[in-house]
Amino acid sequence: MPFLMSATFTPNPASQALYQDQNADTEDRVEDLLDRMTIYEKIGQMTQLNITMINPTDDQADVELNEESARELIHQHHIGSFLNGEAVPPSQWFEFMDGLTRLASEESRLGIPIIYGIDHIHGASYLAESTIFPQKINLAATFNTEHSFNTGWVTAYESADLGHHWNFAPVVDLGVNPLWARFWETYGEDPHLGSRMGEAYVVGYQGNEEIAPFKVAATAKHFLAYSDPHSGWDRTPVQIGSQALHEFHLPPFQGVINAGVKSVMLNSGEINGVPVHASPEIVTGLLREQMGFNGVVITDWDDIGKLVDFHRVAENYKEATYLAVNAGIDVNMTPLSLEFNEAMLELYEEGRISEERIDESVRRILTLKFDLGLFENPYPRNDRLDRIGTEENRLKALKAAEESIILLKNEESVLPLTEPQNILVFGPSAESKRNLSGGWTLAWQGGEEERFPDEVHTIHSALKNHYSDTDIEVIHEIPVDGEESEQQAFFSRLERADMLIYAAGEKPYTEFVGNIVDLTLPSDQLDEIRFISKSSTPATLVMVAGRPRLVTDVIQNVDAFLFAGLPGFEGAEAIANIISGETNPSGKLPFSYPQHTGHFVNYNHKPSDVYFFDTDEANHIAQGAENTSLFQFGEGLSYTTFEYSDLELSSDRLTESETITATVTLKNIGDIAGKESVLWFLTNKVGRYTRPVKELKHFEKVELEPGETATLSFQIDPHKSLAYPDSNGEPILDPGEFNLQVESLDIDFRLVD
Ligand code: BGC
Repeated sequence: MPFLMSATFTPNPASQALYQDQNADTEDRVEDLLDRMTIYEKIGQMTQLNITMINPTDDQADVELNEESARELIHQHHIGSFLNGEAVPPSQWFEFMDGLTRLASEESRLGIPIIYGIDHIHGASYLAESTIFPQKINLAATFNTEHSFNTGWVTAYESADLGHHWNFAPVVDLGVNPLWARFWETYGEDPHLGSRMGEAYVVGYQGNEEIAPFKVAATAKHFLAYSDPHSGWDRTPVQIGSQALHEFHLPPFQGVINAGVKSVMLNSGEINGVPVHASPEIVTGLLREQMGFNGVVITDWDDIGKLVDFHRVAENYKEATYLAVNAGIDVNMTPLSLEFNEAMLELYEEGRISEERIDESVRRILTLKFDLGLFENPYPRNDRLDRIGTEENRLKALKAAEESIILLKNEESVLPLTEPQNILVFGPSAESKRNLSGGWTLAWQGGEEERFPDEVHTIHSALKNHYSDTDIEVIHEIPVDGEESEQQAFFSRLERADMLIYAAGEKPYTEFVGNIVDLTLPSDQLDEIRFISKSSTPATLVMVAGRPRLVTDVIQNVDAFLFAGLPGFEGAEAIANIISGETNPSGKLPFSYPQHTGHFVNYNHKPSDVYFFDTDEANHIAQGAENTSLFQFGEGLSYTTFEYSDLELSSDRLTESETITATVTLKNIGDIAGKESVLWFLTNKVGRYTRPVKELKHFEKVELEPGETATLSFQIDPHKSLAYPDSNGEPILDPGEFNLQVESLDIDFRLVD
């Protein structure tokens, strides 16, 4: 099919209509179009259906158009949006979107374009041949917003032409519970880091001007506190006080709202006994009125249905629809039936949902469609598909992956490994491509191994590629329970190697599929690690996982430990580059790595979180997070050494209306160039509300040559850095003493009345 240049597109019918005049004001266009729409057409705009409703099979991976079903849904039921798919070649997406667009934009009564929703979570991950970046937990570990920006930018660049204009990313939920099945989809446990990374993604994605004439909409999800269930199981209840909600979970959402994010997806779960989808207080009161969000609010998957059979707060779908619309949703990701459309019509006819209420949502949806230019440029185009998966984009993903890998242990500098003769590789992630990328890669739960492109490396193939003169072998059988002679032969093989690399971890998963009951690394892997590290050959443990699986019992046995997380398609190359020393590691933990299964706190915990009674001292002793975490938030080694000195403040007192500047000197005192993320923490010593023991308030990443020095600074504006919300979200400033920390340096100052 030839590509259709959008400029030649003439909408149908009544080309004189005001809403079709691209020079008219958006507001006027929206009102003009609303006036022409029937109530059922309006309800159709509030509906999003899954691809399986319009493809020939019931298979998500089948990106083909069943014209008959699509025609009926668009022409009879006026459906305004569809979603989903899997990674198929660009030409197939083009054909599909081209056909779908025609049915809506050209053949429907008013020619209202479709908006297509998709989960391009880390790069255009539902598109074959695209560039796949690390998952968000890795991007956070870079402490470099450039990589989050690039992820957004490249995603738009590679997918906007195909009609993918509404992306369900970024996740700005906080990764505060390492058991949570979606932990890896987050930017980690810190609200400031989450805000900065989320903002950079939104600016990169929505701000990409190279995709003209198209524009795209990002989605901040899942509002609010989805990530904080006690059990860590997906979509289970969250109990949280309103002060903590405001202080910790809100800022990343506020950050992306301020950056202009065009849509927000709601949390499928409940907070304090109320499902978010049925909460006017959260959706309208908090999100819209207090936080000032005026874009489109979309439900998550079948969350109106879940009000009936999951949360049991509504007797039937119609009552659930009433609750959700009353709460403030605009688009319902229904997504597998017309139940919503029927329910809405009945509720309207019964006078329970007014046309004004429906208009409110439809106004927002049409505004989004006009703002994205979909009325003028509805068609996908296939004349620049060579933008997909370019070498330039791949290098951006590689750089992000390299900066995202965290070296947590390196006894006697066993790494980098230079000029080895022989390396042995073990473990479930040694030869896997899919483990490195995680869920939402090619398919919802991560595509099967054979679907990954040939050129994507496994850890084994990347090492072979890197050390071309080295003998590198994968050992599949580890005789943990073997005969003595077998074990002896095994160990003499190990003794001849220069390095043993155990690639541990998890298989891909997302959502409830990833629920676990124990964070400990599975025992078969622990046994194998313990067993191989009996050899005197140095051993490196590489953790390829979406969450910090506990390694407390084996960490002493290995010489080096790399937390690789989910580094994406370029991840194996990044790991090989770090092991070999071609790249100096610079990742730092964006979360606290737990030590115990039974007790865990985030780095920014409250002082009383870690108190216990010490019978020897007969006193309460503050057990710091350093004793409950195996590795600390912000920890991460380099092959060079950075020295911090001269932490100074422009003044040790400030008032509410003043700003002071802190400076610190950083020097690379090692022999090789390296990158360092400088993290600035503040402690409010006495607060009206209990204060976290410390909070990240600023970060910056710098690269220094050996011997090079840099002076870094942080402007302390009381309203930005010292204020915190009360339980209504109103800012509080506590006059009194504060402490500023950078690495091991710290300095006090006072906020005075
Ligand atoms: C997930 C969302 C996702 C949606 C559409 C849901 O199950 O919770 O994060 O965007 O599906 O695929």
